[in-house]
Amino acid sequence: MKELIKSLVESFGPSGYEESVTTKIRELITEYVDEITMDALGNLIAHKKGNGKKIMFSAHTDEIGIVATHVDDKGFIRFQSIGGLNILTLIGNRVRFSNGAIGVIGKEKGELKDLSLDKLFIDIGADTKISAQEKVNVGDFGIIHREFCDLGRRVIAKSLDDRIGCAVLIEALKQSQNSPHDLYFVFSTQEEVGLRGARTSAYQINPDLGIALDVTLTGDTPEAPRMDIALGNGAGIKVKDSSLITHPKVKQLMIKLAKDKGIKYQLEVLERGGTDGGAIHLSRAGVPSGTISIPCRYVHSASEMVDMDDVQACVDLTVAVANTDLRDI
Ligand code: CO
Ligand code: ZN
Repeated sequence: MKELIKSLVESFGPSGYEESVTTKIRELITEYVDEITMDALGNLIAHKKGNGKKIMFSAHTDEIGIVATHVDDKGFIRFQSIGGLNILTLIGNRVRFSNGAIGVIGKEKGELKDLSLDKLFIDIGADTKISAQEKVNVGDFGIIHREFCDLGRRVIAKSLDDRIGCAVLIEALKQSQNSPHDLYFVFSTQEEVGLRGARTSAYQINPDLGIALDVTLTGDTPEAPRMDIALGNGAGIKVKDSSLITHPKVKQLMIKLAKDKGIKYQLEVLERGGTDGGAIHLSRAGVPSGTISIPCRYVHSASEMVDMDDVQACVDLTVAVANTDLRDI
């Protein structure tokens, strides 16, 4: 599992440019499903046929990143964010562009409290505009450059949001071979810029039940905002966030499954933020939907952290949903 996670998190995939991630996932899952398609927005949709209910699982392949907006005469690059970058975590971090060019993020003078993106720049080691443009041009996308780090029960990496959800989904897909249901595993695009890929794929699939897999925040670090989610306390069953109020039947189903199967879980009430579940449940005439959340510290930084026991609990709960009797949904 850690090998899989490492390979996913070290891939390049800012919103809109997820292809190297979806290509990797396609190779890993082809033998376990009946059909794999890619839609116009780049969503990878794996279908395992069955006669029961149509269930759509979704984890997003994209990660937060940057886009170059200007190259100045000295070769410094200005940028905008793609998704919700946490500015304070950027200074001193490295950016990698799709062609492999690497730069460090520096800042202009001024106080930290006045910091905004337009005071930051990327230094790719060029000394003129022309030499910079040999590597990076306006419109090029980049990601934060960081390697996977194995701490034992916990791991640190960039883009665990939401490659860890992709890893959970890949593992759950392998373990759902005997499900009676018609399963769709969607590896969605452009979540970080507004749940875009999930919206089109849900329209196409038209599911009876939607389940997103994504990270959630925790309240278990020093002086953290109050939130009853902690690393190591199990799979998060979402109650609400700003994109979705989990359908009561879906919430009850997940709680019952967790209890019956002895899967450690915690209820998640997230003040702000959303997941693919937000887009799926508003598709067409509405879809009962929920989210299985992987607790994650330092979300949207270069060093996100998850607990492998929680990851396993999320796999188990996803498999349980794929295999359960869904007559009441
Ligand atoms: Co995110
Ligand atoms: Zn996410």
